[in-house]
Amino acid sequence: MDTFPLAGHPVRRVGFGAMQLPGPGVMGPPRDRDEAVAVLRRAVERGVNHIDTAQYYGPDVANDLIREALHPYPEDLVLVSKVGAVRDESGGWPPAQRPEQLREGVEANLRSLRVDRLGAVNLRLLTPEELPAGVDPVPLEDQLAEMAALREEGKIEGVGVSNATLEQVERAIEIAGLACVQNPFSLLDQHDTPVLDRCAEAGIPYVPFFPLGSAFPWLPKVTDDPVVQRVADRLGATPAQVGLAWLLGHRANILLIPGTSRLAHLEENLGVGDLELSEADVAELTAGR
Ligand SMILES: NC(=O)c1ccc[n+]([C@@H]2O[C@H](COP(=O)([O-])OP(=O)(O)OC[C@H]3O[C@@H](n4cnc5c(N)ncnc54)[C@H](OP(=O)(O)O)[C@@H]3O)[C@@H](O)[C@H]2O)c1
Repeated sequence: MDTFPLAGHPVRRVGFGAMQLPGPGVMGPPRDRDEAVAVLRRAVERGVNHIDTAQYYGPDVANDLIREALHPYPEDLVLVSKVGAVRDESGGWPPAQRPEQLREGVEANLRSLRVDRLGAVNLRLLTPEELPAGVDPVPLEDQLAEMAALREEGKIEGVGVSNATLEQVERAIEIAGLACVQNPFSLLDQHDTPVLDRCAEAGIPYVPFFPLGSAFPWLPKVTDDPVVQRVADRLGATPAQVGLAWLLGHRANILLIPGTSRLAHLEENLGVGDLELSEADVAELTAGR
């Protein structure tokens, strides 16, 4: 598997996203705890050295599983988390963007993952429209300054942003330096191309979330797409592998973190490195999108 540098670490281009490990709605215990632990261990055994997580997955569940399955961690494992939200009892994701809340978010990750420093932490941003009534927006500059302070203190190696517009990415590059960007992007949803291209130009890793379309039922799934299925059948691959291979071939700075709670899906997703799409395959997959 080839690599791309993330906060100074050459991470393999196929990593793992931990959001599918907790129960439905990213809340509560896993569907199958033993399988969740096995997925994490197998990922690392097969060479994954980049795991994306959040304290608010579960909440606490994903990080506790990572620690229980993998601690003491392999030396080359880069753990990336995110801050800017918490969970409420109904499974909502209320914002937690004030500097002291960002700090508390980072500290909670350090404690639960049992590390002194995180490889990178993404600041999860919200549009003013996404802010619940009565919650004041926190200026981006204040949020970035706190993240940069946490980096100066050695608690995180790189500052990333998530759900960020091109303008916010530019500000973050300027104010904080930027280790990575995590935005939604897939074969079916390429609206973030300007941010991807800006990151490619600046040598910043772009880590698409929802690379397969997510587990949320209201979003279209890459694996259900008839063109993806046709190409997969022809190549003797699975639709998930075709969707992920397209991302890997699309830009060299894309780092994958597909999420799964199933060993069989993990093996499939990690097999993507063996699949190369021809120019004709890519043309067929992207025509009309
Ligand atoms: N920064 C942010 O705001 C943000 C937001 C969302 C996600 N993320 C991160 O991005 C990662 C990836 O996103 P995601 O997990 O939401 O969505 P995703 O990777 O696009 O898709 C996950 C869904 O695909 C299924 N799946 C996985 N591998 C498959 C395969 N080979 N064949 C068929 N189905 C398969 C999973 O189900 P099974 O469990 O049954 O395999 C799950 O339903 C997350 O894990 C998380 O770390 C970040």
